[in-house]
Amino acid sequence: MLMNLPAWGVYVHIPWCRTRCPYCAFTVVVDRDSPKHAYTLALLRQWEATAPQFPSPPTTLAFGGGTPSLHPPQDLAAIIRTIGPTGEVSLEANPGQVSAALLAEWRDAGVTRLSVGVQTFSRRHARLLNRGHTVEDAQALLGLVAEAGFRSWSADLIFATPGQTLDELDADLDALLAANPPHVSLYGLTAEEGTPYGRAVAEGRITPADEDAWRAAYERVVSRLESEGLGRYEVSNFARPGHRSAHNEHYWRGRPYAGLGVGAAGYWPDGARTQGPEDVAAYLADPIGTTTVERPSPEDAAVDWLVGTSRHVDGLSLEELAARGFTLHDDVVRGLVRAGLLSRTASTLALTPAGFPVADGVLRRLAEALVPAPR
Ligand SMILES: C[S@@+](CC[C@H](N)C(=O)[O-])C[C@H]1O[C@@H](n2cnc3c(N)ncnc32)[C@H](O)[C@@H]1O
Ligand code: SF4
Repeated sequence: MLMNLPAWGVYVHIPWCRTRCPYCAFTVVVDRDSPKHAYTLALLRQWEATAPQFPSPPTTLAFGGGTPSLHPPQDLAAIIRTIGPTGEVSLEANPGQVSAALLAEWRDAGVTRLSVGVQTFSRRHARLLNRGHTVEDAQALLGLVAEAGFRSWSADLIFATPGQTLDELDADLDALLAANPPHVSLYGLTAEEGTPYGRAVAEGRITPADEDAWRAAYERVVSRLESEGLGRYEVSNFARPGHRSAHNEHYWRGRPYAGLGVGAAGYWPDGARTQGPEDVAAYLADPIGTTTVERPSPEDAAVDWLVGTSRHVDGLSLEELAARGFTLHDDVVRGLVRAGLLSRTASTLALTPAGFPVADGVLRRLAEALVPAPR
């Protein structure tokens, strides 16, 4: 399928968290005497079995979670050494758990990029999000990270929390921008099934931000960040020049990546999709056999590719779509272009500024318009 691999990545999922945030549906284990070193050994066994699927070496390695900052630094160092990426090594860090000495250990181990889970600077919204750290912890970590000498770093914020006013959002953005981050990820809070927050919304106990409030908040985020030199390059991601996430670019450009650990997704060069198990004990018992490997149909693979690449500011390549054997119903594309939601050039289709806030709906319509190209 993909003949050469100029760039590809490895994602390593570290599931430990101090507490489980009430809105989070990721694969997470509340950290009480977690078998961290056994987990490292299982990751390395899975890597040994997975690496032959890829021409070595990877260009990026990303530790996500969960909370990778809870994993022993010497274990992170061993994973980095064994996998040996040629470029970016990123790590998600939670406030309240990180000292200047730990930052130096990560940097010496080869971590080049940190992503700090701030989420909010407002005490009222921090109570609702109920994270295992305080607003002061987040401020303190941002100060340490800015001084720690990583090649790049990012801060994550959540917006459109229930009842958040535009003034409150502005206050969050003021505090964020005061830390001068080179990269920011901003996610609108979603009500995920099976989470306490999702249940509270489904049962009417909490009223989430409605569509108009969400859109007003998103547009405020974009205008404030862009006017400060943080350009949107994906629906939820903003960067100064030279500070985009090299690892996440693989996802948005349809490039392959290996997924290691519980809950980790992977996409192999031969088109296979992999999915790690939810259960840590099952994974430790068999880190290779518990990950499922499926080869999606050409239609499903094309939809995955279309939805991933279209969220990026560069949009989708019509040439690559044709190379995959698909095209789009022209009347649907023309309708979206006429509505000002998509722009079309001879070689690309991309979201417009009006299309970004309603990206999910636009991409759903595009995916429905996908048809095999005539031979
Ligand atoms: C799964 S977390 C992992 C990193 C770290 N544990 C943290 O919380 O920052 C990655 C990102 O997903 C976000 N996230 C998780 N659930 C979400 C939801 N329901 N709505 C919006 N963002 C969410 C988190 O806030 C965080 O920025
Ligand atoms: S700390 Fe991050 S991964 Fe852990 S439960 Fe909270 S949002 Fe999810």
